[in-house]
Amino acid sequence: MGLVSAKPMLDKAYREGYAVGAFNINNLEWTKAILLAAQEVSSPVILGVSEGAAKYMTGYKVVTEMVKAMIESLNITVPVALHLDHGSYEGALKAIEAGFSSIMFDGSHYPIEENIKLTKEMVERTRKLGISLEAEVGAIGGEEDGVIGNGEVADPKECKLINDLGVDFLAAGIGNIHGKYPANWAGLNFEVLNEINKVTGDTPLVLHGGTGIPADMIKKAISMGVSKINVNTECQLVFADATRKYIEAGKDLAGKGFDPRKLLAPGTEAIKQVVKEKMELFGSFNKA
Ligand code: 13P
Repeated sequence: MGLVSAKPMLDKAYREGYAVGAFNINNLEWTKAILLAAQEVSSPVILGVSEGAAKYMTGYKVVTEMVKAMIESLNITVPVALHLDHGSYEGALKAIEAGFSSIMFDGSHYPIEENIKLTKEMVERTRKLGISLEAEVGAIGGEEDGVIGNGEVADPKECKLINDLGVDFLAAGIGNIHGKYPANWAGLNFEVLNEINKVTGDTPLVLHGGTGIPADMIKKAISMGVSKINVNTECQLVFADATRKYIEAGKDLAGKGFDPRKLLAPGTEAIKQVVKEKMELFGSFNKA
């Protein structure tokens, strides 16, 4: 079916009380593993692309063409959205131009007036083209591809201002962090999440920094309006771990074990398993 907007998949998830996973892609292996996992468990899926990853994969156009061709060649029939993750203004324009079906414009580091002005422009641009739009209030903590935040908690009043511009889904900081969580992490701020959900109507909410959040917190967040959960680091960690074990077992030295198709296979399989586990936890099995 090609690429689809993330709006219908997330509206349905919000109504029915589950979340759709957004998994970041970096290369061919990642993309294939995530698409195959989604197809196996019949789940909708969002492929997240950071600006750094788009550059690494030689540009937005290449990413779009690769994902479209892969959907066709692998006979993927579940809904797939190709989504710009934490996009800047310029990055959003480039991803729209290249044919992404979903955009995150992250204006959280601007003063709220500027975030409102730029998000409003993005609402107009994306709506005309049927592309879904995610906005952000209150930066997410940690660092991802050079985007740094400090574990902020969003102001529900600001969330309402951005929500009322007509964004399709809203990312709001509730103490979540990109990457691994520190041992002394206070956990998600459910009081603030509740406030945000009250003032944003039926808008699906987005939880970034999905890696390492305990299952009970994930489930509680979903019951309070979180309908999209982003996971990146966890796939990277299991990929590295599986690859290290392959090399440490000397398998690259046996026969043609050095062939990248063999060398990358255990890591690719590990990503597939993690993606399926997350989809089960998020409740999106059989929701395609
Ligand atoms: P993690 O790397 O912590 O899973 O976060 C992913 C994310 O939020 C992508 O925007």
